[in-house]
Formats: sequence, C-alpha cells, structure tokens
Amino acid sequence: AAPGLVDRFGRAATDLRVSLTDRCNLRCTYCMPAEGLDWMPTAQTLTDDEIVRLIEVAVTRLGVTDVRFTGGEPLLRKGLESIVAATKALRTDDGRPVGTALTTNGLGLERRAAALRAAGLDRINVSLDTLDPERFARITLRDRHADVLAGLRAAVAVGLAPVKLNTVLMPGINDDEAPDLLAWALAEGYELRFIEQMPLDPQGGWDRERMVTAADILASLRTRFTLEPTDPDRRGAAPAQTWFVSGTPEVGGTTSGRPVVGVIASVTRPFCGDCDRTRLTADGQIRNCLFARTETDLRGLLRSGADDEAVAEAWRAGMWTKEAGHGIDDPSFLQPDRPMSAIGG
Ligand code: GTP
Ligand code: 5AD
Ligand code: SF4
Repeated sequence: AAPGLVDRFGRAATDLRVSLTDRCNLRCTYCMPAEGLDWMPTAQTLTDDEIVRLIEVAVTRLGVTDVRFTGGEPLLRKGLESIVAATKALRTDDGRPVGTALTTNGLGLERRAAALRAAGLDRINVSLDTLDPERFARITLRDRHADVLAGLRAAVAVGLAPVKLNTVLMPGINDDEAPDLLAWALAEGYELRFIEQMPLDPQGGWDRERMVTAADILASLRTRFTLEPTDPDRRGAAPAQTWFVSGTPEVGGTTSGRPVVGVIASVTRPFCGDCDRTRLTADGQIRNCLFARTETDLRGLLRSGADDEAVAEAWRAGMWTKEAGHGIDDPSFLQPDRPMSAIGG
C-alpha cells in the first residue's frame, strides 16, 4: 500500500475529522461570543462533492479507516446524510467499510437520526453540559435542553451505539453536577465522558488555574461511585481514558456491557504521543493538530484541477511536520488562530 499519513515521530493518522461548517445554533460561553463569529464565506466552503472527494483520497490513498463529522454544528449541513452515505460506500485498503461517526450538539437530531442511521452512520457523540434546563440556557444562551434530550433518545431508538455524551465542566457553573450526570447517563444507557477545557476559545478566557482537572472530576465522582481503570496500562490512541463504574443502585442500566465513564484529560494527561488524527476544515485546509500553527491548503489544489495523487502528496507533506504535542504547558504556547468551532474539536 502507498505510505499513509505518517509524521516525523512515527505516528500514523488513520482517523480523519471533517468539519462540515463553522456555524452553530448554540452559543456555549466557552466556545463562542453571544453574537457569533465571522462565519466562513460560502465561496470558501467546500461543496459536498469536494468533501467526498477528499475523504475518498484519504481512505483509498492515505490509510484513513475512520471518519468523524464535526462542526461547528454538522447537522446544520443539509448534505450531511449524503456525505455520510458516500463515505460509508468507501472501502479501506483491507476491504473493510469505513467507520463513520458524528459529533453534534443534538439540536434537530430527533428528526434526522433515522436518516443518518440509514445512510450508514455508526456512532454519535452528543454534547451536554448539564441536566438542568435553566443552566443549559445560561451555558448555551439558547433554551433548547429538551431538544437535546429528544435527540439523544432518537439516537438510541434508531440503533446508534454506543451513544456517547461529552461534558465540559466549568468551575462554579456545572462542576457540582458530575455525579448526577453520571447517574443519569448510566440509567439512560449513554456513555458519559468529561472533557478538560482546552485553550481554544476565541475570547481567550481559558485559564489553567480555573480549569476543572481530571483529578477534580475523579474525586467528585468517587464521592458516589467506585471507579476502576478499564485499562491500567492506557494503551491505544483514544483521547478518553475510561473507568468501570460500580457501587450505587443506578449502575447497571447500560446496554453495552459493564458501565464505564470516560475522562478526556487533554491538558493534565496529554495523549499526543498516541495521536492518530488528521483534520480537514470546512474551507478545505488540513490541520495536523488541533493546536497546529500552520495548515495545508487542499481547496486551492482541488480547484486548480490537481489530480488525486497530487492532493494525497500535499496531505502527506502536511502531516509530516506535525509537532510532538500541543505544548499547552510551554511558556511559548500560543492559541491557534482558529477557534475550536472552525477546527471541529
Ligand atoms: P471517540 O472516537 O468516540 O472517542 O471520539 P472523540 O472523543 O475523539 O471525539 P469527540 O468529537 O467526541 O471529542 C471529544 C473531545 O475530545 C473534544 O473536546 C475534542 O476536542 C477532544 N479531542 C478529540 N480529538 C482530539 C485530539 O486529537 N486531541 C485533543 N487534544 N483533543 C481531542
Ligand atoms: N475544550 C474542550 N472541549 C471543548 N468543546 C468545545 N470547546 C472546548 C474546549 N475549549 C467540546 C464541546 C463538544 C466537543 C466536540 O468539544 O463541548 O462536546
Ligand atoms: Fe493530536 Fe494535537 Fe490533539 Fe495532541 S493536541 S492529541 S497532537 S491533535
């Protein structure tokens, strides 16, 4: 097979994250200002066909085996179902179907879950930071808590499994909710992951001293649950580190074996050494890291008539220069020029 997306440190990117839009219908305070951001001009945004062509190059020439669609909010993209279907039709080097996943805020999912499943979507991760509708409205600036819960139920009903929940805890806002969120998620059969907040907000408000750490989260959960690491050696590239949960009557309601909880500790326990990701932005730029300082322009190449191998070669070159890690703790660390919403998380 042709060489895949390897870097100077020997990592191979097999997991492609495709941001389908930088727009969002929520305004989570840690992600966007109330007025929104300067959205990408439509002319610079890849068309559905351009996106599918790039995914095909990644899968057939570059060793990508899994594709996750992100945003902004990917459900805002009308062509999502057809992009998923075209992706699912691709075969990896060894003849297997491509794994497909979606990361969404859940708004509108109730209506589209069945079509997404039919198009070949395998898995879904939904963001939810609180169980309280009023808190939800304070965090997201929109009164849509019930829509997210309806979307989650629809995801389970159509057979997306597992359904994962992503929760960002913030001090004084929702950091008291970790045990309640876990009890609820276990009872509903969702796999909950808590995420350490990363310095990716355009407002520049991130503060290491005011971040809820993995240690804080585990201590809070252990006031009510018994946690045992699922993988004491911590192998594999998944950002989430997971624990088996036991010890309370709520535990036991999940459909997928022993109940687990995850923590994505990007800041205090970085997993960059095992990173297997490459990222495509909605305007056709390859980012070799969430925190990359440079990008590789594939949109220009596509639109100038480049053939698939030329596109693949540019992608390889863009990944080769990936840094060893995000360097959040380095004195010289700078936030990337793009906010999270324009990278896809
Ligand atoms: P799974 O395959 O279901 O484990 O997906 P995931 O957790 O990789 O993806 P998701 O989109 O749900 O992201 C959850 C959180 O992990 C978000 O805050 C992402 O920004 C973060 N994340 C995802 N990939 C990376 C990565 O490569 N590096 C870092 N630092 N964070 C990441
Ligand atoms: N740090 C960590 N996670 C974040 N998310 C959004 N902004 C940040 C940030 N600065 C989360 C969202 C969503 C996931 C894709 O990333 O809440 O669940
Ligand atoms: Fe990979 Fe960059 Fe995330 Fe580290 S911060 S895991 S290198 S994308």
